[in-house]
Amino acid sequence: MEWRSSPPTLTLPMDEVQIWRANLQANPDAIETYCWLLSPDEQERANRFHFQKDRNRYVMARGILRVILSRYLHRLPQDLQFRYSPTGKPSLAHPSDSPLCFNLSHSGQLALYAVAWHREVGIDVEHIRLERDCEHIAERFFAASEQADLNQLSPKLRHQGFFNGWTRKEAFLKATGQGLTIPLDQIVVSLLPKEPAQILHTVWNPAEVTRWSIQALEVGNEYAAAVVAAGQDWQIVTWQFKRLC
Ligand SMILES: CC(C)(COP(=O)(O)OP(=O)(O)OC[C@H]1O[C@@H](n2cnc3c(N)ncnc32)[C@H](O)[C@@H]1OP(=O)(O)O)[C@@H](O)C(=O)NCCC(=O)NCCS
Repeated sequence: MEWRSSPPTLTLPMDEVQIWRANLQANPDAIETYCWLLSPDEQERANRFHFQKDRNRYVMARGILRVILSRYLHRLPQDLQFRYSPTGKPSLAHPSDSPLCFNLSHSGQLALYAVAWHREVGIDVEHIRLERDCEHIAERFFAASEQADLNQLSPKLRHQGFFNGWTRKEAFLKATGQGLTIPLDQIVVSLLPKEPAQILHTVWNPAEVTRWSIQALEVGNEYAAAVVAAGQDWQIVTWQFKRLC
């Protein structure tokens, strides 16, 4: 998967979901620049973080979100306003007639953003941490068939399989907006490293799977990531976000 710099003028065709990869590494200039773009409620939220590193990461991720969206909307980043669903999914409140849909995820210093017109999207990225006790977590949160898939993998591949499963479930639940209000074992996904990403089953409504499709994203060896979007008729285009500072 190639992550190219975006052209100066962006186009977003209806059948595309554009994915942006950004580095959230903070430095004082960047923090000052991006903090200035945030709304008062975002700045308040930033100030509530206990640790400076979490505050910085939030400021960078939100500031970059604003810059990316502003490029599609031809507005200033600081003029955008967000609203939130009852489960916390952000969407655009201003410009209010905008059909631009987006979602974001961050893990470590990496952030991913998905953007599409008229199409709900959900994205998730996780740093693959080898110290994680995958078997135990899978026993608690994964469906029986997913646990069986994991158990057929060598210990080396099991972490990759686990994080494939985790990010695919979360990307789906972020696309629908439900987030972790739905138990993760209620949605069954493919996770074996050599198999394509698929949403296989949703327990609460079997017809739900036909409304969405999923793609795995290659963002680096130490990460697993996936994007889910409404419909079947879309393809992804990937961009590397170039920071000014
Ligand atoms: C959404 C959720 C799965 C994110 O998990 P995560 O792996 O910790 O975090 P990620 O980095 O992948 O994603 C975070 C981003 O997802 C977005 N997000 C938050 N809630 C979301 C939701 N319900 N659906 C889609 N996206 C959501 C936000 O943009 C957030 O970024 P921000 O913190 O800068 O605003 C998790 O926070 C969740 O389930 N939240 C819902 C909780 C809930 O239902 N609360 C009820 C309120 S009463």
